[in-house]
Amino acid sequence: MTTVEEIRPAPVELGRRRGGPDVKTSRTDRWWIPSAATAATLLAFVAYSTWVAFQNAHYYHPPYISPFYSPCVSSNCKYQQLPIVGTWWKLSPALIILWFPLGFRLTCYYYRKAYYRSFFFAPPACAVADARPRYFGETRFPLILQNAHRWFFYAGIVFNVFLTVDAVRAFDFPNGGWGMGLGSLVLTVNAVLLWLYSLSCHSCRHIAGGRLNQLAKHPVRHWIWKKLTPLNAIHMRFAWASLIFVALTDLYVRLVASGLIHDPRFF
Ligand code: FES
Repeated sequence: MTTVEEIRPAPVELGRRRGGPDVKTSRTDRWWIPSAATAATLLAFVAYSTWVAFQNAHYYHPPYISPFYSPCVSSNCKYQQLPIVGTWWKLSPALIILWFPLGFRLTCYYYRKAYYRSFFFAPPACAVADARPRYFGETRFPLILQNAHRWFFYAGIVFNVFLTVDAVRAFDFPNGGWGMGLGSLVLTVNAVLLWLYSLSCHSCRHIAGGRLNQLAKHPVRHWIWKKLTPLNAIHMRFAWASLIFVALTDLYVRLVASGLIHDPRFF
């Protein structure tokens, strides 16, 4: 019987296959289920968001705007927020802005693990060998671009500010003043989840506490770092919750805007 002391991690060398050339895995459980579930969920989200981005309709029903179309930056928007792109833009306004949240999610440390496993089998799961014959980490193009994550984090914060303003405006009804409908709550939960996703980001925690020899000598940054650390520990949950809820928020606004459902008004 193998003892814990006898288990040695497989060496990782750039340019070679992780896990060794012969044995794929000695795991006997159904290790492929999490990767398959991740792939199915991500594919469903990509399909839905692509359809939404090109649809260019049913994204605004006062006072609700879909998070896929906010901030609306072109002059052909149904809801003028920040018309910095002129009337020459004839396509969906979502196509101008969605690159930033897409880049933020694509370069996220958690999603990297998720899609490297699910789509590239690199590796497919813990203690399962890579499908690819050679491993280079993120040392070469295009994966070296993952280092841009911190910049996408900054862009994500700007988007969060816009979506928070949208959530506040979701309580300001055009003909009745301030009130609350189900959509007001939906947009609020969406904004809260996106903030939690951003604040639990590894880059955010590093901005707070990184690049210091003695963090304890910087009490404000130390305090912020200590508050962010528990959030960072459950970043994966915020990644999934915010991803799924942003799609549900769009769906809700879309169904109300197209007249398929009625938005219940509480007061
Ligand atoms: S690590 Fe996931 S958003 Fe930064």
